[in-house]
Amino acid sequence: RTLRIGLIPGDGIGREVIPAGRRLLESLPTSLGLKFSFVDLDAGFDTFKKTGNALPDKTVDILKKECDGALFGAVSSPSTKVAGYSSPIVALRKRLDLYANVRPVKTTAGGSATGSPIDLVIVRENTEDLYVKEEKTTEGPEGKVAEAIKRISERASSRIATMAGEIALRRQKIRQVSPGTSHLSKPMVTITHKSNVLSQTDGLFRETARKALANPKYSTVEVEEQIVDSMVYKLFRQPGYYDVIVAPNLYGDILSDGAAALVGSLGLVPSANVGDGFAIGEPCHGSAPDIEGKGIANPIATLRSVALMLEFLGEEPAAAKIYAAVDANLDEGKYLSPDLGGKATTQEVLEDVLKRL
Ligand code: NAI
Ligand code: MG
Repeated sequence: RTLRIGLIPGDGIGREVIPAGRRLLESLPTSLGLKFSFVDLDAGFDTFKKTGNALPDKTVDILKKECDGALFGAVSSPSTKVAGYSSPIVALRKRLDLYANVRPVKTTAGGSATGSPIDLVIVRENTEDLYVKEEKTTEGPEGKVAEAIKRISERASSRIATMAGEIALRRQKIRQVSPGTSHLSKPMVTITHKSNVLSQTDGLFRETARKALANPKYSTVEVEEQIVDSMVYKLFRQPGYYDVIVAPNLYGDILSDGAAALVGSLGLVPSANVGDGFAIGEPCHGSAPDIEGKGIANPIATLRSVALMLEFLGEEPAAAKIYAAVDANLDEGKYLSPDLGGKATTQEVLEDVLKRL
Protein backbone atom coordinates (compact mmCIF):
# COMPACT_ATOMS: atom_id res chain seq x y z
CA ARG A 1 0.00 0.00 0.00
CA THR A 2 1.28 3.44 -0.94
CA LEU A 3 0.10 6.42 1.08
CA ARG A 4 0.44 9.96 -0.13
CA ILE A 5 1.17 12.37 2.69
CA GLY A 6 0.90 16.16 2.58
CA LEU A 7 3.65 17.90 4.54
CA ILE A 8 2.78 21.31 5.96
CA PRO A 9 5.72 22.46 8.08
CA GLY A 10 4.33 25.97 8.71
CA ASP A 11 6.49 28.32 10.76
CA GLY A 12 9.37 28.20 13.23
CA ILE A 13 10.31 24.77 14.57
CA GLY A 14 7.57 23.28 12.39
CA ARG A 15 10.27 23.37 9.71
CA GLU A 16 12.61 21.37 11.94
CA VAL A 17 10.22 18.72 13.22
CA ILE A 18 8.16 17.94 10.10
CA PRO A 19 11.27 16.75 8.17
CA ALA A 20 11.89 14.40 11.11
CA GLY A 21 8.36 13.06 10.64
CA ARG A 22 9.06 12.45 6.98
CA ARG A 23 12.31 10.62 7.75
CA LEU A 24 10.42 8.43 10.20
CA LEU A 25 7.89 7.39 7.55
CA GLU A 26 10.69 6.70 5.07
CA SER A 27 12.50 4.57 7.63
CA LEU A 28 9.66 2.23 8.60
CA PRO A 29 10.62 -1.42 8.14
CA THR A 30 9.73 -2.69 4.65
CA SER A 31 8.15 -5.75 6.28
CA LEU A 32 5.14 -3.55 7.08
CA GLY A 33 4.38 -3.40 3.35
CA LEU A 34 3.94 0.37 3.39
CA LYS A 35 5.30 2.95 0.99
CA PHE A 36 4.94 6.70 1.11
CA SER A 37 5.00 9.55 -1.32
CA PHE A 38 5.10 13.15 -0.19
CA VAL A 39 3.91 16.54 -1.31
CA ASP A 40 5.17 19.76 0.30
CA LEU A 41 2.45 22.27 1.03
CA ASP A 42 2.41 25.87 2.23
CA ALA A 43 0.49 27.41 5.11
CA GLY A 44 1.23 29.70 8.03
CA PHE A 45 2.25 33.21 8.92
CA ASP A 46 5.26 33.31 6.57
CA THR A 47 3.00 32.16 3.74
CA PHE A 48 0.59 34.93 4.71
CA LYS A 49 3.36 37.53 4.61
CA LYS A 50 4.43 36.35 1.16
CA THR A 51 1.04 35.78 -0.45
CA GLY A 52 -1.59 37.51 1.71
CA ASN A 53 -3.22 34.14 2.44
CA ALA A 54 -2.29 31.87 5.37
CA LEU A 55 -3.95 28.87 3.74
CA PRO A 56 -3.60 28.87 -0.05
CA ASP A 57 -6.43 27.12 -1.93
CA LYS A 58 -3.80 24.98 -3.61
CA THR A 59 -2.91 23.44 -0.24
CA VAL A 60 -6.53 22.52 0.46
CA ASP A 61 -7.10 21.22 -3.09
CA ILE A 62 -4.08 18.95 -3.03
CA LEU A 63 -4.97 17.60 0.40
CA LYS A 64 -8.49 16.85 -0.80
CA LYS A 65 -7.63 15.41 -4.20
CA GLU A 66 -4.30 13.65 -3.74
CA CYS A 67 -3.56 12.91 -0.13
CA ASP A 68 -4.41 10.10 2.26
CA GLY A 69 -3.25 12.06 5.28
CA ALA A 70 -1.06 14.97 6.31
CA LEU A 71 1.38 16.28 8.88
CA PHE A 72 1.09 19.83 10.14
CA GLY A 73 3.96 21.47 12.05
CA ALA A 74 2.99 24.69 13.78
CA VAL A 75 2.07 28.20 12.83
CA SER A 76 2.96 31.49 14.45
CA SER A 77 0.13 33.82 15.26
CA PRO A 78 0.92 37.52 15.41
CA SER A 79 0.49 38.81 18.98
CA THR A 80 -1.45 41.84 17.74
CA LYS A 81 -4.29 41.45 15.27
CA VAL A 82 -3.15 41.58 11.64
CA ALA A 83 -5.86 42.41 9.10
CA GLY A 84 -6.72 39.44 6.89
CA TYR A 85 -4.84 36.85 8.93
CA SER A 86 -6.63 33.89 10.44
CA SER A 87 -5.29 30.59 11.70
CA PRO A 88 -4.80 28.09 8.86
CA ILE A 89 -5.26 25.04 11.08
CA VAL A 90 -8.67 26.25 12.22
CA ALA A 91 -9.61 26.85 8.57
CA LEU A 92 -8.28 23.43 7.54
CA ARG A 93 -10.38 21.69 10.20
CA LYS A 94 -13.47 23.42 8.77
CA ARG A 95 -12.72 22.90 5.11
CA LEU A 96 -11.87 19.24 5.48
CA ASP A 97 -14.58 18.62 8.12
CA LEU A 98 -12.06 17.31 10.63
CA TYR A 99 -14.59 17.09 13.41
CA ALA A 100 -12.48 15.48 16.09
CA ASN A 101 -9.39 16.64 17.88
CA VAL A 102 -7.64 13.65 19.34
CA ARG A 103 -4.97 14.09 21.96
CA PRO A 104 -3.25 11.14 23.59
CA VAL A 105 -1.28 11.76 26.75
CA LYS A 106 1.05 8.98 27.71
CA THR A 107 3.99 8.29 29.93
CA THR A 108 6.44 5.52 29.22
CA ALA A 109 6.86 2.51 31.47
CA GLY A 110 9.60 4.63 33.10
CA GLY A 111 7.21 7.01 34.84
CA SER A 112 5.84 10.54 34.80
CA ALA A 113 5.49 13.82 36.67
CA THR A 114 2.95 12.23 38.97
CA GLY A 115 4.88 9.01 39.41
CA SER A 116 2.12 6.80 38.05
CA PRO A 117 1.70 5.56 34.49
CA ILE A 118 -0.68 7.48 32.24
CA ASP A 119 -2.06 6.29 28.93
CA LEU A 120 -5.17 8.22 28.07
CA VAL A 121 -6.61 9.97 25.05
CA ILE A 122 -8.98 12.88 24.90
CA VAL A 123 -11.42 12.90 22.00
CA ARG A 124 -12.75 16.41 21.66
CA GLU A 125 -15.70 17.37 19.49
CA ASN A 126 -14.39 20.13 17.28
CA THR A 127 -17.27 21.79 15.42
CA GLU A 128 -19.88 23.05 17.86
CA ASP A 129 -20.68 23.75 21.54
CA LEU A 130 -19.84 27.28 22.74
CA TYR A 131 -17.25 27.57 19.97
CA VAL A 132 -19.87 28.22 17.30
CA LYS A 133 -18.99 31.80 18.27
CA GLU A 134 -22.54 33.13 18.18
CA GLU A 135 -22.31 35.88 20.74
CA LYS A 136 -24.21 39.07 21.29
CA THR A 137 -24.15 41.95 23.74
CA THR A 138 -27.20 44.00 24.74
CA GLU A 139 -27.59 46.93 27.08
CA GLY A 140 -30.26 47.00 29.82
CA PRO A 141 -30.92 47.82 33.48
CA GLU A 142 -28.05 45.49 34.48
CA GLY A 143 -25.66 47.31 32.19
CA LYS A 144 -24.20 45.29 29.34
CA VAL A 145 -25.24 41.69 29.05
CA ALA A 146 -23.26 39.31 26.86
CA GLU A 147 -24.62 35.97 25.75
CA ALA A 148 -23.24 33.06 23.78
CA ILE A 149 -24.94 30.14 22.10
CA LYS A 150 -23.98 26.64 23.20
CA ARG A 151 -25.04 24.35 20.38
CA ILE A 152 -25.04 20.58 20.74
CA SER A 153 -26.42 18.40 17.96
CA GLU A 154 -27.30 14.75 17.86
CA ARG A 155 -25.29 14.27 14.69
CA ALA A 156 -22.05 15.74 16.03
CA SER A 157 -22.42 14.05 19.43
CA SER A 158 -23.11 10.71 17.82
CA ARG A 159 -20.17 10.79 15.43
CA ILE A 160 -17.70 11.90 18.11
CA ALA A 161 -18.86 9.14 20.48
CA THR A 162 -18.60 6.60 17.67
CA MET A 163 -15.07 7.77 17.02
CA ALA A 164 -14.28 7.37 20.73
CA GLY A 165 -15.55 3.79 20.56
CA GLU A 166 -13.41 3.05 17.51
CA ILE A 167 -10.36 4.56 19.19
CA ALA A 168 -10.92 2.45 22.30
CA LEU A 169 -10.99 -0.72 20.20
CA ARG A 170 -7.93 0.33 18.23
CA ARG A 171 -5.91 1.15 21.31
CA GLN A 172 -6.70 -2.33 22.57
CA LYS A 173 -5.36 -3.75 19.29
CA ILE A 174 -2.16 -1.72 19.65
CA ARG A 175 -1.69 -2.93 23.22
CA GLN A 176 -1.94 -6.47 21.89
CA VAL A 177 0.72 -5.78 19.22
CA SER A 178 3.04 -4.12 21.77
CA PRO A 179 2.51 -5.81 25.11
CA GLY A 180 4.20 -4.16 28.07
CA THR A 181 3.83 -0.62 26.74
CA SER A 182 0.68 0.20 28.73
CA HIS A 183 -0.72 -0.52 32.17
CA LEU A 184 -4.28 -0.60 30.78
CA SER A 185 -5.93 -3.95 30.25
CA LYS A 186 -9.42 -3.36 28.90
CA PRO A 187 -10.95 -0.63 26.73
CA MET A 188 -13.05 2.04 28.43
CA VAL A 189 -14.75 5.26 27.30
CA THR A 190 -15.59 8.01 29.80
CA ILE A 191 -18.30 10.44 28.64
CA THR A 192 -17.74 13.90 30.11
CA HIS A 193 -20.51 16.45 30.56
CA LYS A 194 -22.31 18.70 33.01
CA SER A 195 -25.83 17.49 32.42
CA ASN A 196 -26.79 17.90 36.06
CA VAL A 197 -26.82 21.66 35.33
CA LEU A 198 -27.21 21.87 31.56
CA SER A 199 -29.80 19.17 31.16
CA GLN A 200 -30.72 20.01 27.56
CA THR A 201 -27.37 20.69 25.88
CA ASP A 202 -25.04 18.48 27.88
CA GLY A 203 -27.97 16.18 28.49
CA LEU A 204 -28.28 15.63 24.74
CA PHE A 205 -24.54 15.04 24.42
CA ARG A 206 -24.60 12.47 27.21
CA GLU A 207 -27.68 10.65 25.98
CA THR A 208 -26.54 10.59 22.35
CA ALA A 209 -23.05 9.40 23.27
CA ARG A 210 -24.56 6.63 25.43
CA LYS A 211 -26.73 5.54 22.53
CA ALA A 212 -23.86 5.51 20.02
CA LEU A 213 -21.68 3.48 22.36
CA ALA A 214 -24.46 0.98 23.03
CA ASN A 215 -23.83 -0.34 19.50
CA PRO A 216 -22.90 -4.05 19.82
CA LYS A 217 -19.65 -3.23 17.98
CA TYR A 218 -18.48 -1.74 21.26
CA SER A 219 -19.72 -4.52 23.50
CA THR A 220 -16.18 -5.10 24.81
CA VAL A 221 -15.80 -1.42 25.69
CA GLU A 222 -16.77 -0.36 29.19
CA VAL A 223 -18.75 2.89 29.03
CA GLU A 224 -18.96 5.24 31.98
CA GLU A 225 -19.62 8.92 32.47
CA GLN A 226 -18.31 11.67 34.66
CA ILE A 227 -19.30 15.25 35.42
CA VAL A 228 -16.58 17.52 34.09
CA ASP A 229 -15.56 19.22 37.33
CA SER A 230 -15.07 16.00 39.26
CA MET A 231 -13.37 14.72 36.12
CA VAL A 232 -10.70 17.40 36.48
CA TYR A 233 -10.14 16.41 40.09
CA LYS A 234 -9.81 12.74 39.28
CA LEU A 235 -7.74 13.38 36.17
CA PHE A 236 -5.11 15.08 38.32
CA ARG A 237 -5.34 12.69 41.27
CA GLN A 238 -5.57 9.46 39.34
CA PRO A 239 -4.71 9.98 35.67
CA GLY A 240 -3.80 6.32 35.24
CA TYR A 241 -7.47 5.41 35.64
CA TYR A 242 -8.53 6.72 32.22
CA ASP A 243 -8.42 5.25 28.73
CA VAL A 244 -10.59 7.23 26.25
CA ILE A 245 -12.30 10.44 27.35
CA VAL A 246 -14.93 11.92 25.03
CA ALA A 247 -16.05 15.51 25.54
CA PRO A 248 -17.87 18.40 23.92
CA ASN A 249 -15.67 21.13 22.46
CA LEU A 250 -15.11 23.45 25.44
CA TYR A 251 -14.52 20.80 28.12
CA GLY A 252 -12.35 18.88 25.69
CA ASP A 253 -10.21 21.92 25.00
CA ILE A 254 -9.58 22.55 28.69
CA LEU A 255 -9.08 18.90 29.60
CA SER A 256 -6.56 18.38 26.77
CA ASP A 257 -4.28 21.20 27.83
CA GLY A 258 -4.61 20.18 31.47
CA ALA A 259 -3.78 16.56 30.71
CA ALA A 260 -0.76 17.57 28.62
CA ALA A 261 0.70 19.18 31.74
CA LEU A 262 0.81 15.76 33.40
CA VAL A 263 3.65 14.54 31.24
CA GLY A 264 6.27 17.26 31.38
CA SER A 265 7.16 18.81 28.06
CA LEU A 266 4.96 20.12 25.27
CA GLY A 267 7.60 18.58 23.04
CA LEU A 268 6.15 15.14 23.83
CA VAL A 269 2.44 15.61 23.14
CA PRO A 270 0.93 14.73 19.75
CA SER A 271 -2.54 15.33 18.36
CA ALA A 272 -4.60 14.51 15.33
CA ASN A 273 -7.39 16.35 13.56
CA VAL A 274 -9.67 13.68 12.23
CA GLY A 275 -12.67 13.43 9.95
CA ASP A 276 -14.19 10.56 8.03
CA GLY A 277 -11.38 9.18 5.89
CA PHE A 278 -8.78 11.86 6.58
CA ALA A 279 -6.37 12.64 9.41
CA ILE A 280 -3.81 15.35 10.01
CA GLY A 281 -1.14 14.64 12.61
CA GLU A 282 -0.05 17.75 14.49
CA PRO A 283 2.28 18.23 17.47
CA CYS A 284 0.51 20.19 20.23
CA HIS A 285 3.26 22.76 20.58
CA GLY A 286 3.58 26.02 18.67
CA SER A 287 6.36 27.44 16.52
CA ALA A 288 8.64 28.03 19.57
CA PRO A 289 10.45 31.17 18.37
CA ASP A 290 12.75 30.99 21.42
CA ILE A 291 14.49 27.86 20.12
CA GLU A 292 13.89 28.23 16.38
CA GLY A 293 16.91 27.54 14.17
CA LYS A 294 18.97 25.98 16.96
CA GLY A 295 18.26 22.38 15.93
CA ILE A 296 17.20 21.41 19.45
CA ALA A 297 13.43 21.13 19.09
CA ASN A 298 12.13 17.88 20.52
CA PRO A 299 10.82 15.85 17.56
CA ILE A 300 8.89 13.34 19.71
CA ALA A 301 5.53 15.17 19.63
CA THR A 302 5.79 15.01 15.83
CA LEU A 303 6.94 11.38 15.72
CA ARG A 304 3.99 10.41 17.90
CA SER A 305 1.70 12.48 15.66
CA VAL A 306 2.96 10.46 12.69
CA ALA A 307 1.96 7.28 14.52
CA LEU A 308 -1.41 8.73 15.40
CA MET A 309 -2.06 9.65 11.78
CA LEU A 310 -1.14 6.09 10.75
CA GLU A 311 -3.60 4.71 13.30
CA PHE A 312 -6.38 6.63 11.64
CA LEU A 313 -5.28 5.38 8.25
CA GLY A 314 -5.72 1.83 9.55
CA GLU A 315 -2.04 1.06 9.99
CA GLU A 316 -1.98 -0.01 13.64
CA PRO A 317 1.13 -2.24 13.41
CA ALA A 318 3.21 0.63 12.01
CA ALA A 319 1.87 2.97 14.69
CA ALA A 320 2.63 0.45 17.43
CA LYS A 321 6.23 0.15 16.20
CA ILE A 322 6.70 3.91 16.38
CA TYR A 323 5.18 4.23 19.85
CA ALA A 324 7.43 1.45 21.12
CA ALA A 325 10.57 3.01 19.56
CA VAL A 326 9.78 6.41 21.09
CA ASP A 327 9.09 4.89 24.51
CA ALA A 328 12.39 3.01 24.36
CA ASN A 329 14.24 6.23 23.55
CA LEU A 330 12.62 8.02 26.50
CA ASP A 331 13.06 5.14 28.93
CA GLU A 332 16.75 4.75 28.16
CA GLY A 333 17.15 8.52 28.45
CA LYS A 334 20.50 8.68 26.69
CA TYR A 335 19.37 10.91 23.83
CA LEU A 336 17.00 13.49 25.28
CA SER A 337 16.51 17.02 23.99
CA PRO A 338 17.08 20.05 26.29
CA ASP A 339 13.37 20.46 27.16
CA LEU A 340 13.69 17.08 28.92
CA GLY A 341 16.96 18.01 30.60
CA GLY A 342 19.19 16.35 27.99
CA LYS A 343 21.71 17.61 25.45
CA ALA A 344 20.63 15.83 22.28
CA THR A 345 19.73 17.68 19.09
CA THR A 346 16.56 17.09 17.06
CA GLN A 347 18.65 14.95 14.70
CA GLU A 348 20.19 12.84 17.47
CA VAL A 349 16.82 12.09 19.06
CA LEU A 350 15.45 11.17 15.63
CA GLU A 351 18.40 8.86 14.83
CA ASP A 352 18.04 7.11 18.16
CA VAL A 353 14.33 6.47 17.54
CA LEU A 354 15.00 5.26 13.98
CA LYS A 355 17.66 2.85 15.24
CA ARG A 356 15.04 1.28 17.54
CA LEU A 357 12.49 0.70 14.76
P1 NAI B 1 5.10 27.17 21.97
O1 NAI B 1 4.44 25.86 22.08
O2 NAI B 1 5.63 27.55 20.66
O3 NAI B 1 6.30 27.24 23.04
C1 NAI B 1 6.10 27.20 24.46
C2 NAI B 1 7.42 26.77 25.14
O4 NAI B 1 7.62 25.36 24.91
C3 NAI B 1 8.64 27.48 24.56
O5 NAI B 1 9.56 27.71 25.60
C4 NAI B 1 9.21 26.47 23.59
O6 NAI B 1 10.59 26.59 23.39
C5 NAI B 1 8.84 25.14 24.23
N1 NAI B 1 8.61 24.11 23.20
C6 NAI B 1 7.53 24.00 22.38
N2 NAI B 1 7.69 22.97 21.54
C7 NAI B 1 8.89 22.41 21.83
C8 NAI B 1 9.62 21.32 21.28
N3 NAI B 1 9.15 20.56 20.27
N4 NAI B 1 10.83 21.05 21.82
C9 NAI B 1 11.31 21.78 22.82
N5 NAI B 1 10.69 22.82 23.38
C10 NAI B 1 9.48 23.14 22.88
O7 NAI B 1 4.04 28.26 22.48
P2 NAI B 1 4.19 29.86 22.51
O8 NAI B 1 5.59 30.24 22.80
O9 NAI B 1 3.10 30.32 23.38
O10 NAI B 1 3.81 30.32 21.04
C11 NAI B 1 4.76 30.55 20.02
C12 NAI B 1 4.03 30.74 18.70
O11 NAI B 1 3.39 29.52 18.33
C13 NAI B 1 2.95 31.80 18.75
O12 NAI B 1 2.97 32.53 17.56
C14 NAI B 1 1.67 30.98 18.89
O13 NAI B 1 0.57 31.65 18.35
C15 NAI B 1 2.01 29.76 18.10
N6 NAI B 1 1.27 28.56 18.49
C16 NAI B 1 0.83 27.75 17.49
C17 NAI B 1 0.19 26.55 17.78
C18 NAI B 1 -0.19 25.68 16.62
O14 NAI B 1 0.31 25.83 15.53
N7 NAI B 1 -1.06 24.70 16.80
C19 NAI B 1 -0.10 26.15 19.15
C20 NAI B 1 0.43 27.04 20.14
C21 NAI B 1 1.08 28.20 19.80
MG1 MG C 1 -6.34 24.70 23.42
